[in-house]
This record gives sequence, structure tokens and C-alpha cells, in this order.
Amino acid sequence: MFCCGRWGWRDLFTLTTGTDNQRAAVRGWLAGLDAVQPDIADRIITAWVTTWASSVWPELDDVPFSASAPGYPLARHVNEVTRAGQVLMPRAAEDWGATLDPEIMLPILILHDVDKPLLSDPRGKTSLAKRMPHGVVGAMLLRDLGFDQRIVETVATHATDAPFHGDTAEAHVLHYADLFAADHALRAQGLVPFYRR
Ligand SMILES: [Fe+2]
Ligand SMILES: [Fe+2]
Repeated sequence: MFCCGRWGWRDLFTLTTGTDNQRAAVRGWLAGLDAVQPDIADRIITAWVTTWASSVWPELDDVPFSASAPGYPLARHVNEVTRAGQVLMPRAAEDWGATLDPEIMLPILILHDVDKPLLSDPRGKTSLAKRMPHGVVGAMLLRDLGFDQRIVETVATHATDAPFHGDTAEAHVLHYADLFAADHALRAQGLVPFYRR
């Protein structure tokens, strides 16, 4: 029998579909859900409800973009990334001839930071953030929920400090949508954006 000791998977998150209110809160917040198939949208909502319900944050709006920019809501960042990615997708198609499947690209954009509610608390980084890299925890959750391997791999390797990044058009689009939005969050907090480092 599998078991879950101190460091078992239960220590990371507990899969849950959540309450109707939690699902409505996530559905009402996330941009881009109407652009994917209903079953994919449902699984995206379950992924976010799972990390929210497994975190210490009572409200999604309280989760910060990062421990170093605590005044900028993660919820705002995620939607900025999704919308920037939606602008870049047709450009990549026209200018590069890249065929980006929206059923792959949109979940990547919407879910890239799904593990962040687990990685911070009101005092800063959680103990999990000191044991597992950002992106990898989210990828484990997305694999558990049966998301496409391209989504799992791109989320796992998207962080700026990941040891490598995927060599795909999807990873390329996510990177620039994410950095475009992240630099706005940093500038809005009076912090040095990545492009000025
Ligand atoms: Fe990220
Ligand atoms: Fe991000």
C-alpha cells in the first residue's frame, strides 16, 4: 500500500473539486476560460481550487505575485499573462508560421503559476518553497489531473531560474507573456524589473 509519511504527496496539496463558491470564485476571476473546451476549463478550475484550498490563503486576491512583490496580486498577474499570450499567439502564427494549439497554449498560460498559493504565506516563503522549485509543484498537480504532457513540461520548466527551458513555441510565448507581466508587477511595486537587470 502506498503511504504518505511526513514528506508524502499530501504534504504538497490535496486534490479537490472544492465547493460551488470556490469554483465560482475561480471561474469569475480567470481570463481565457471561455476560449478552451468546457472539460479543460473544468480541470483548470479544479487545479486552481486545489492549490487555493491547500494553501493558507482565505481569499485568492490575497495571494501575492511573489514574496518579493507582496503588494501585487497573483490573480492580476495570471490574467495579464493570459491576455498577453493571447495577443502573442496570432503574431507567432502569422510571423513565424508557428501552429499553437489553443487547447495547449491557453492552459499553459492560465496554469503556469498554479503552485504559487502553496509557495508563500503572509510571512514570506513557505517551507515547501524551500524544498521544491516553483513550477515543478504545479506540474505534479497538472499531471495528477491528466493534463497534456506538453502543458506539464512547460509549466515545470517555465521559471526564470529553472535549469533549462523547453525548446517549443509554447514555452517561448509563455516566457515573454510572463516576463512582460512580471516586469509590470515589479515596476508597479518600485522594484527592479528583469529587463533592467
Ligand atoms: Fe512562474
Ligand atoms: Fe508568472
